[in-house]
Amino acid sequence: MKATLLVALLALASLPAYAGGDAGAGAQKSKACAACHGADFDTPISPDIPRLAGQHEDYLARALSDYKSGERKNPIMDGQAGALSAQDILDIAAYVSSLNGKLKVMPLQRFAK
Ligand code: HEC
Repeated sequence: MKATLLVALLALASLPAYAGGDAGAGAQKSKACAACHGADFDTPISPDIPRLAGQHEDYLARALSDYKSGERKNPIMDGQAGALSAQDILDIAAYVSSLNGKLKVMPLQRFAK
């Protein structure tokens, strides 16, 4: 009985936190993206390229899906996302959201003046 419980717990523990994406696979699949977004996804090569490290996983997946579908348009990213499968998008979103970065929301009062 105890052994059965242990096996069940181990099986649960080995499930990824978010069943959609595999961060390990995402690390491999996102290597080309580092050319612009930075190897740590927190040091983009120019100010018009967004930081991505630590961004919400669902936001990243949505942004990439929208570039791919044409819902969101950008001459650079349309091509980048167009080459990704739905699974690639989930894997990359899982990986990039797991990274630590300086991304933050600016406090509202900073905009008030
Ligand atoms: C040639 C440079 C370049 C490469 C390579 C590149 N990106 Fe981008 N990325 C950009 C730029 C520029 C933007 C801003 C586009 C815009 O304003 O919509 C962007 C935007 C994004 C966004 C939206 C961020 C936000 O805050 O809304 C995501 C997500 C993203 N890129 C992921 C990726 C991924 C994943 C890859 C690799 C498959 C990649 N990028 C490769 C330049 C690049």
